Amino acid sequence: MTEATSVDAQALRAEVREKYREVALEPGGSFHFHTGRKLAALLGYDGELVDGLPDRAVESFAGVGNPFSVRRLAPGERVVDLGSGGGFDCFVAAAAVGPAGRVIGVDMTPEMLAKSRGTKELLEPDHVEFREGLLEELPIEDGWADVVISNGVINLCADKKTVFSEAFRVLRPGGILQFADIANGKPLPSAAVCEIDLWTGCIAGGLPLDDWCSTLQAAGFENLSISSPIDAFGGSGGEQNARAYDVFAYVFRGTKPA
Ligand SMILES: C[S@@+](CC[C@H](N)C(=O)[O-])C[C@H]1O[C@@H](n2cnc3c(N)ncnc32)[C@H](O)[C@@H]1O
Repeated sequence: MTEATSVDAQALRAEVREKYREVALEPGGSFHFHTGRKLAALLGYDGELVDGLPDRAVESFAGVGNPFSVRRLAPGERVVDLGSGGGFDCFVAAAAVGPAGRVIGVDMTPEMLAKSRGTKELLEPDHVEFREGLLEELPIEDGWADVVISNGVINLCADKKTVFSEAFRVLRPGGILQFADIANGKPLPSAAVCEIDLWTGCIAGGLPLDDWCSTLQAAGFENLSISSPIDAFGGSGGEQNARAYDVFAYVFRGTKPA
């Protein structure tokens, strides 16, 4: 197990809030990762659906993959989005599950929550809700969700074991976790692991694929599958670092035993 534990978890959260505050307030700014409509197209989201969303629902999108690519959501499903940011994936999920379903996005950055809640007011979907909270202590009751999704967030958490235990807790038996995140093919030197800038740029906080799998299995997930690699950083400011550590995104899927 090679999970990086030497980063200060509290300092990391403060820096992550600061970085994603910027992404919420100044989505047109310059970041080390792609954002917005360009990113959604790169990651293969349904163009017609994305075109139908207002700019404020898409412009702060900062995921690394498409969690819906490994399994379509079904009408009526209850979905939790871990680290919902500006709400993009929640609005995509809301369209798939329809009014008989429910979508709850959880995030810790106030400016992201204000943005996603403002978009909800504009679009008025009754079945979408955004809650303030930490992935490590989800404000969701046990066994509520059919599906837990996440996109580019768990790499930003120092304690991935607790995040997966929480995802497991909120899923019903037989429920599905499908999330996009990054994995590094080459080990990061310990100096890089402690560099918070590399974490907030979604480079240093990933795990090698084997470690993602062992962490998921330790939390109780089974039937794991992993997508082909996705070049989420090609052409972005973070490309050089991504290449240095062989960082690609993947979509992971696992189930809670029935
Ligand atoms: C890279 S952005 C991705 C947002 C969204 N999933 C998307 O695809 O646009 C990361 C988001 O995760 C949130 N986040 C990071 N760590 C978190 C934690 N421990 N608890 C709650 N939210 C967290 C940040 O506030 C930020 O909005």
